[in-house]
Amino acid sequence: MILVTGGAGYIGSHAVLELLLAGEEVLVLDNLCNSSKTALDRVAQLSGRAPQFIKGDVRNRALLQALFASYPIRAVMHFAGLKAVGESVREPLRYYETNVSGSITLCQAMAEAGVFRLVFSSSATVYGESPVMPITEDRPTGTPTNPYGQSKLMAENVLKGLAESDPRWSIGLLRYFNPIGAHESGLIGEDPNGVPNNLLPYMLQVAVGRRKQLSVYGADYPTPDGTGIRDYIHVVDLVKGHLKALDRLEQVRGVSVWNLGTGKGHSVREMITAFEEVTGRPLPHVIKPRRAGDIAQCWSEPGKAWAELGWRAEKDLVTMLADAWRWQSRNPHGYAEPQENTATSSAPLSTALAS
Ligand code: NAD
Ligand code: UFG
Repeated sequence: MILVTGGAGYIGSHAVLELLLAGEEVLVLDNLCNSSKTALDRVAQLSGRAPQFIKGDVRNRALLQALFASYPIRAVMHFAGLKAVGESVREPLRYYETNVSGSITLCQAMAEAGVFRLVFSSSATVYGESPVMPITEDRPTGTPTNPYGQSKLMAENVLKGLAESDPRWSIGLLRYFNPIGAHESGLIGEDPNGVPNNLLPYMLQVAVGRRKQLSVYGADYPTPDGTGIRDYIHVVDLVKGHLKALDRLEQVRGVSVWNLGTGKGHSVREMITAFEEVTGRPLPHVIKPRRAGDIAQCWSEPGKAWAELGWRAEKDLVTMLADAWRWQSRNPHGYAEPQENTATSSAPLSTALAS
């Protein structure tokens, strides 16, 4: 059985689906602070099998101990965390507590239970502003400009030190570039709380009429069209990389770092043009000053994941946008709409131990 922390969230729910489709048993631990259990109900609908679900906090050591004692967990995918950059500037302690202390508590409970295989959600933000593109894993980490980025870098360093201290650990640090898109069914996708920070969720909410227009943050970057360039990757490709990493960690010990990206960059203007083609409607937008802390460009060299995991991203930008649009147009208010199908089984421990 695989423990998936944060498994009700955007990336976690897609990972749970892929694990179930691969025949794995899955236990989800999520406090639902930024997600809905409906996502897991829909995962059950898609896979024909329900993951076990515990509503609880990854910082709750007693709960984790009880989970490892009660379920035959052999590895962990650790998605649980907070990810809003602006919020992290206003509430740094909450970010360090969840993203760093939460990871430490999880590792303590894992070690106690004799479980040493961990896949960790890291971010390209740990590279800081790299002068060289594309970014390879051996680039030195930089200085993230906000507490969110710092918390990911700190968690990476904690995990590296842990693996150096005890050779039983196999840890994969997966550095995501820009995950977008949704499962092709349109049943699960990204459902941000409040005003979206990220480009595509904002574009989608403009397209369904929830927001007036997109602000393009900067058209004076040293890029071909002046707007920021990023490496957008389909969330289903991304989570497939996690399954490959999980397999690989059976064979290698210590810490392994893999970039999960496509190796291709797209500018904000290119994103707008492609999005308008996919949706068949114009996307109102206005050029605004640069957003504080943004870098001009960032894209991956994903060759290490191909060489070591046999994984590479397969879905192109049009597929990413079409899948995201299917999700958003069928669920204009995300998971807020009431759902009748509630197939997910809540494990009895959830009532006894959840905090
Ligand atoms: P998300 O917010 O949709 O998912 C995170 C999940 O963790 C949510 O379901 C939330 O309820 C849960 N959670 C948060 N704190 C918790 C806690 N203390 N205990 C238990 N559950 C908790 O975000 P996501 O986009 O799916 O991101 C998943 C992971 O990937 C995060 O660690 C994030 O930092 C990392 N990441 C995301 C991106 C991105 O662009 N989405 C990029 C790089 C890295
Ligand atoms: N952008 C806009 N308007 C918006 C939102 C974004 O023009 O409303 C632009 C940004 O300036 C940037 C590009 O669109 O050029 C992408 O911005 P996102 O906010 O979607 O993504 P970022 O690359 O800034 O950040 C994301 C995650 C971070 C993570 C980072 C690296 O939000 O958590 O990728 O992995 F750290």
